[in-house]
Amino acid sequence: MLCYKKVAKFKNAAPEARGIIQLQKRGNKKITEKIVLAYSGGLDTSVLIKWLQEKYNAEVITVTVNVGQPEDLKEIEEKALRLGVLKHYSIDAKEEFAADYVFPAIKANALYEGKYPISTSLSRPLIAAKMVEIAEKDGATALAHGCTGRGNDQVRFDISLGALAPDLKIIAPVREWGMTREEEIAYAKTKGIPVSTAAKKYSIDQSIWGRSIECGILEDASKEPPEDAFEWTVTPEKAPNTPEYVTIKFDGGVPVAVNGKKLKPLALIELLNETAGKHGVGRIDHIEDRLVGIKSRENYECPAATVILEAHKDLEKMVLTRHEVLFKQQIDAEWAFLAYAGLWMDPLREDLEAFINKTQENVCGEVRVKLYKGALQVVGRSSPMSLYDQNLVNYNIKTSFNQAHSKGFIELWGLQTRMSNVLKQKTKKQKKASGSKKP
Ligand code: ARG
Repeated sequence: MLCYKKVAKFKNAAPEARGIIQLQKRGNKKITEKIVLAYSGGLDTSVLIKWLQEKYNAEVITVTVNVGQPEDLKEIEEKALRLGVLKHYSIDAKEEFAADYVFPAIKANALYEGKYPISTSLSRPLIAAKMVEIAEKDGATALAHGCTGRGNDQVRFDISLGALAPDLKIIAPVREWGMTREEEIAYAKTKGIPVSTAAKKYSIDQSIWGRSIECGILEDASKEPPEDAFEWTVTPEKAPNTPEYVTIKFDGGVPVAVNGKKLKPLALIELLNETAGKHGVGRIDHIEDRLVGIKSRENYECPAATVILEAHKDLEKMVLTRHEVLFKQQIDAEWAFLAYAGLWMDPLREDLEAFINKTQENVCGEVRVKLYKGALQVVGRSSPMSLYDQNLVNYNIKTSFNQAHSKGFIELWGLQTRMSNVLKQKTKKQKKASGSKKP
């Protein structure tokens, strides 16, 4: 019943909402498309504005969604307007990103391939959702992004956009135009797009959950990253000589306070990025399997993510049963994989979250963390929902734990192991006996 309702609602939507609109004329040319473009203000997406206008006779609407990148939004807006866009939107989505994307990732202990807190990956479905909102509001016919054909982001954008707006065209020009960097710069110059002369050393992507650093010298996987690749973390050698202790309070599986101070999701993450970064905590260097099959050397700075995920995992071990912990590890890995792999919109994510959210009801308590010269250590934890009982482990205290029961338990626990070894020894002996009888 519900499914029918949803389909009917979409079918009855206004023509503008489905992108089927009468477009007007620009100069003498008939405008054939109205395109919403995810705009960063960089060279690629600036070239895209002009390219889309020309190639598609399009009106371009640009959107910049702020999930924690450092660029000046006002400057980006001015640049877009100078390049002749119809409209520009700057959206500050940091709070929403923290609460609706990062916090579920904390509950899921989300690490791709055991290392990467998916800080770039998580922001893509949110940016896609904002693009679609605008496209529906302004009656656009297409959506465009500046991702290349080599990376993961194209997969994330295409799938999320396609799931949210199945009737809109998706255009990814960088994948089709085949321009080299030099050709792109030459094109930019002919179109009056400002090109910065300072060659960029790295390709950076930033959200409040982490900073991704790629390209340049980092592509040589055998070399240690130079210091200038990092901005959020100091090198451990230069970190303070005294350790800092931080206590994180969790409620319902998410962090709610630091050192006794209640904080909203965004403020809490920002504070821990600063505190842990100051101690050189959160640098990640690994070989990552991209969806398109390429192995890439990736560097990240994720101070808050490193601290929060470690503390959260530690607390879960105190309050969940061993069966829950072990099973959840598989669910968590699958959740992180979906988010990394562009499948945020797949119903499986919410199915997994139904399990994850249920497990988080008891994940309450405090975790004490020590930060010192690039190292992070959990040094204490407590919880009102703890399954840890100090009396049970103390040899000197009489408790309800009956040691006499252990003998019977071990008997049964090791039953099959014992049986299989007895059998093995028997067959070995038989083989030996039959071998020695042979002439
Ligand atoms: N490999 C990471 C991911 O796919 C990060 C990509 C970062 N992009 C960049 N331009 N530095 O999520």
